[in-house]
Amino acid sequence: MLVSAAEMLKKAKAGKYAVGQFNINNLEWTKAILQTAQECNSPVILGVSEGAGKYMCGFTTVAAMVSAMVEELGITVPVALHLDHGSYEGAKKCINAGFSSIMFDGSHYPIEENIEKTKELAAACHVLGLSLEAEVGSIGGEEDGVVGMGECADPKECKMVADLGVDMLAAGIGNIHGKYPANWAGLSFETLEAISKEVGDMPLVLHGGTGIPADQIKRAISLGVAKINVNTECQLAFQEATREYIEAGKDLQGKGFDPRKLLAPGTEAIKAMVKTKMELFGSVGKA
Ligand code: 13P
Repeated sequence: MLVSAAEMLKKAKAGKYAVGQFNINNLEWTKAILQTAQECNSPVILGVSEGAGKYMCGFTTVAAMVSAMVEELGITVPVALHLDHGSYEGAKKCINAGFSSIMFDGSHYPIEENIEKTKELAAACHVLGLSLEAEVGSIGGEEDGVVGMGECADPKECKMVADLGVDMLAAGIGNIHGKYPANWAGLSFETLEAISKEVGDMPLVLHGGTGIPADQIKRAISLGVAKINVNTECQLAFQEATREYIEAGKDLQGKGFDPRKLLAPGTEAIKAMVKTKMELFGSVGKA
């Protein structure tokens, strides 16, 4: 059964560790992440972007696949199926499709509109026992080949949005999606401390988990981060292992590609990467 992320994140914040959100794009990645969470006895959040949802034949298909996999694989650790960076319309679709957690990314709306829509979605989620993540201060990344430096959220705005009854809050602290530029200044712990002071017990979410040095991850957790999102690193692990496999000529068996064999090395690489992250985040054994 899929569960809301609220309870696991409350526990994580109190226990000073973080739960990993790993993004899924297909059956193989989903299976790899679920099996690793079970092996590590760790709670886990499966993130689905709107693009990945479309690719996998819609949110209803994704929810059905993940629920069935949890059952077929005998997964007993807490698993939340979470919409990543959802639009207002996407959030509503996922609420109806059987997701157990939603992120509404209203950071591009004026703050009043972000607040109004977040409030409405929080109420809709909570009636059904789902959790809601809101975002304040946009978390950038590469756009048209230009990598932004990462914004810092206004702690007062964070407090306003936290008070709307959301279950977790993503706040920009200089983090960005994808690879960090060589001259990246690092996370702003000053901002994180100020936000933590304002929002109290609210679990904070760190997006752009790929490529943040381990010491900064640990410090962020000690200052209230309870959920860390990782996507690019899954892609990189998968790409590297798949490339090695193809370059070694192992795919050419005279019968063309066997997808089960072709995707296996990449899937194993994702498993190893997820395990390393769960160890770093401190979630191993916390299910
Ligand atoms: P990365 O792709 O940088 O790991 O970020 C993932 C993320 O924050 C998804 O919301």
